[in-house]
Amino acid sequence: MVTRFIFLAIVVLAACSPKSTNDENELAKISDPDVMKYAIAGKTLYENYCGNCHQSNGEGLGKLIPPLKNSDYFQASVHRTVWIMKNGQKGEIVVNGQKYDQPMPANPVLKPLEIAQISTYLYNIWGMNKGVISSSEVEKYLRKEPSL
Ligand code: HEC
Repeated sequence: MVTRFIFLAIVVLAACSPKSTNDENELAKISDPDVMKYAIAGKTLYENYCGNCHQSNGEGLGKLIPPLKNSDYFQASVHRTVWIMKNGQKGEIVVNGQKYDQPMPANPVLKPLEIAQISTYLYNIWGMNKGVISSSEVEKYLRKEPSL
């Protein structure tokens, strides 16, 4: 009975999971196995917590949601990105010369390991190669608001 339920739950989850897009190839370009371990988990978390707004391909949505892919703002500071993921972001910011001013909600439920996995995914695709961003680094970043 219980196994049957678990089986059904897996089938339903698989059917409802986001459709794969061409960012699948981004994961395949990662060669470091430690980075890969984090990035696989990070991709799923990204799709659940960020993808609706920033999109699976990281390109954002018009003038409302800034891009993460090839974003100067994103690339300038891992510390700031980690902070934004946990605490949200309010007020005008400029990303690649374009102004954005829509609040991004905080994610109080995200644990340091999950933030580490999302960060490792995002900073090792789209031509970047920052290596593993560990949960102890994330904990350190979350203790102090970034000055940038
Ligand atoms: C409800 C929509 C929404 C969700 C979900 C969301 N964001 Fe955002 N995000 C925004 C908006 C809107 C801004 C711009 C904030 C501003 O104008 O001050 C932003 C800004 C950012 C920025 C800084 C600007 C840039 O593009 O470089 C980063 C980094 C970022 N988000 C990462 C994430 C990550 C990672 C997640 C998932 C944990 C996430 N966001 C989830 C809407 C969202």
